[in-house]
Amino acid sequence: MPKRFLMCPTTYFDIEYEINPWMHTDNRVDQALALHQWRQIHDTYERIGHIVETLDPVKGLPDLIFTANAALVIDGKVMLSRFRYPERQGETRYNQAWFESNAKRLGITEIRLAEHNFEGEGDALFTGDTIIAGYGFRSEQPAHRELADFFNIKVISVKLVDPYFYHLDTCFSPLSPEAAMFLPNAFDAEGVAAIKKHFKTLIETTPREAAAYGLNAVSDGHNVVMSNMAPTLAKQLKDHGFNPITTPITEFHKSGGAVRCVTLEIRT
Ligand code: ARG
Repeated sequence: MPKRFLMCPTTYFDIEYEINPWMHTDNRVDQALALHQWRQIHDTYERIGHIVETLDPVKGLPDLIFTANAALVIDGKVMLSRFRYPERQGETRYNQAWFESNAKRLGITEIRLAEHNFEGEGDALFTGDTIIAGYGFRSEQPAHRELADFFNIKVISVKLVDPYFYHLDTCFSPLSPEAAMFLPNAFDAEGVAAIKKHFKTLIETTPREAAAYGLNAVSDGHNVVMSNMAPTLAKQLKDHGFNPITTPITEFHKSGGAVRCVTLEIRT
């Protein structure tokens, strides 16, 4: 089944502030390289049969390219993000406008703004019939109740404990309804237990390959588009029957992001 993704070109992407431990304003983005890396991810999705929608970039909103953080979209329903940091709060109206103007075409039936801090697919990953949701750095736990009520879907709520892995999608990635990969150290003991209980197959990675953003991947159940700096993880995926497609992400890494962060799945 082809998936539909939302991406935003890197025209105005840069490191203009520091809101996570990866960001350093003296470590600027190579604009040409960023666009090239973005294009490679974009074209990979199309090559493996998925559809990519685009959101227009906006000057002054360098992190708008991280569309994963715009919302969580399931079954035509959109829970729009409420960003924790003022630096990103200006993104919301552009995200909202995009969903509103494309609602009819895509079959979007309802758009709601989260009441509590909530950073979309950065912190809430849907697989099978369950949402795995993280809290602790960006999203707040009461937002998980909102998700459960709005989507009428079971939510497994897990606490993130390592500031370097401040969004769930930096330390955890579902691969299929039964399989996932993660970095155990990024969660508290309860979180690890909840993840272990839910997934039949769990691939663990090392702090080194998680820091190379190997877990910040997009899986369609077979192909896994991911960072090219986590070779052991890619090998583990292969051994489990997945098809890892690795791609360079150095420019997004400067901002604390990679493949998953620049991708939002639109499920209608
Ligand atoms: N610089 C962005 C921030 O700190 C990176 C967002 C990464 N997105 C993600 N889904 N993990 O907010």
